[in-house]
Amino acid sequence: MSYYRRHVFFCCNQREAPEKCCANAGAVEMQKYAKDRVKALGLRGKGEVRINKAGCLDRCEEGPVIVVYPEAVWYTYVDRDDIDEIVDRHVVNGEIVERLRI
Ligand code: FES
Repeated sequence: MSYYRRHVFFCCNQREAPEKCCANAGAVEMQKYAKDRVKALGLRGKGEVRINKAGCLDRCEEGPVIVVYPEAVWYTYVDRDDIDEIVDRHVVNGEIVERLRI
């Protein structure tokens, strides 16, 4: 059994302009938002959910990106509503959010 039921990695990498990067698309703020939301839902910790920062995940042109394990499903997002949907549907309930999948 996995240590975490769901483990989410947010690329928070910063690249030099004009290279596209997740940090310039609000990744650091969104990672914190997701982490706080999971905590508020009481789902943080062993056997539950972990929201981690990551370095470059090498899908910069498709970013900002996150990946959710154990399903290894990749998403992009624009705003907090997208993060809410990924957390509520996938992280909590295991339902893949096709509209945000990359
Ligand atoms: S900067 Fe996010 S995937 Fe490379």
